[in-house]
Amino acid sequence: MQFKDHILNLPAYKPTRLLAGHQGEVVKLSSNENALGPSPRAIAALQAAMANVHRYPDSGAATLRRALAERADLTPESVMCSNGSDEMIFLLCTAFLSPGDEAVMAEGTFISYFLRTLEMGGKPVRIPLRDYTHNLPALIDTITPRTRLLFVCNPNNPTGTTNSAAEIAALIANVPDDTLIVMDEAYIEFVTRADYPDLLPELRNGRRNLILLRTFAKIYGLAGLRLGYAYGHPDVISYLDRARPTFNVNALAQIAGLAALDDQDHVARSRDYANASRAMFVSELNKLGLHYIPGETNFVAINVGDDITVAEGIRERGFTVTPLAGWGLPGLIRVSFGTMEQNHQFIAALAETLKA
Ligand SMILES: Cc1ncc(COP(=O)(O)O)c(C=O)c1O
Repeated sequence: MQFKDHILNLPAYKPTRLLAGHQGEVVKLSSNENALGPSPRAIAALQAAMANVHRYPDSGAATLRRALAERADLTPESVMCSNGSDEMIFLLCTAFLSPGDEAVMAEGTFISYFLRTLEMGGKPVRIPLRDYTHNLPALIDTITPRTRLLFVCNPNNPTGTTNSAAEIAALIANVPDDTLIVMDEAYIEFVTRADYPDLLPELRNGRRNLILLRTFAKIYGLAGLRLGYAYGHPDVISYLDRARPTFNVNALAQIAGLAALDDQDHVARSRDYANASRAMFVSELNKLGLHYIPGETNFVAINVGDDITVAEGIRERGFTVTPLAGWGLPGLIRVSFGTMEQNHQFIAALAETLKA
């Protein structure tokens, strides 16, 4: 057998250690899941569909694609579903990167862009954040004739920061046609700022070098089912469609996704809940005199000094959070919002850890 070096050199995914050092239930605040859970309509749809899982799913997820297209006022040919948006990132790298090709991205953003680029033998080019936000002019300056993909995470995981419509418009205007802009909008439904970019009109107007990634894992509360999707130009979508496994989106995910999409009340409740959680965190962190990054998502990045030691101390008190040193942001921990009771318990655990 011959192993490829660029795959051998990849770090293996390390799941969060849940139990070490703590007796009793551990609260996971490390994956930006929806603390309210899935829509009750999605649960009911799943229960009704269970008896049919001996059947293969619709390989093209046609009904879900139609529903997603309708919501965006695009054609179904502009939509593709995937096994989580993580799979879409993988497919984009598979389909667009040959060994030696470059993918430009921020340092201090979602790690899959980096890992999947390496996996294809591509060259990740990483640009530090500026004020914890994507430095778009610097990303543009890094583009070369070998740049096939440019990733922007807006809002950014793990800082929660956003780039404005004007900033993104300037980016789009300055990226060459043969570089595909991958706009990861996993947290779009949480955003409240008025000048956040709506990029669907770009696609309606026929722009080819832009693809928008969305997911059912965050506000829709379906992380465990693995369901993501992309809006893009039909040429790009049909190209990616050839690169995917035949049955990449399972039947239950398709059914639950449709039901969840239909329950926009649950989405609104989840957004309100994230806003209330953020307000609570801001007030409590101010009382503790801790610096945090103002974001627009269902998590917050907090400056705690020694992120690794503090995350460990918090875990011993029953909460998993994400230290960000490994993301190029030493000193910060990322904390997903839990139920309001968990949020209060977490703040107490954080205060205790910092005192210890
Ligand atoms: C910015 C961003 N993109 C993509 C993903 C992957 O989402 P999914 O669960 O749909 O694969 C995540 C998950 O944390 C994320 O934060």
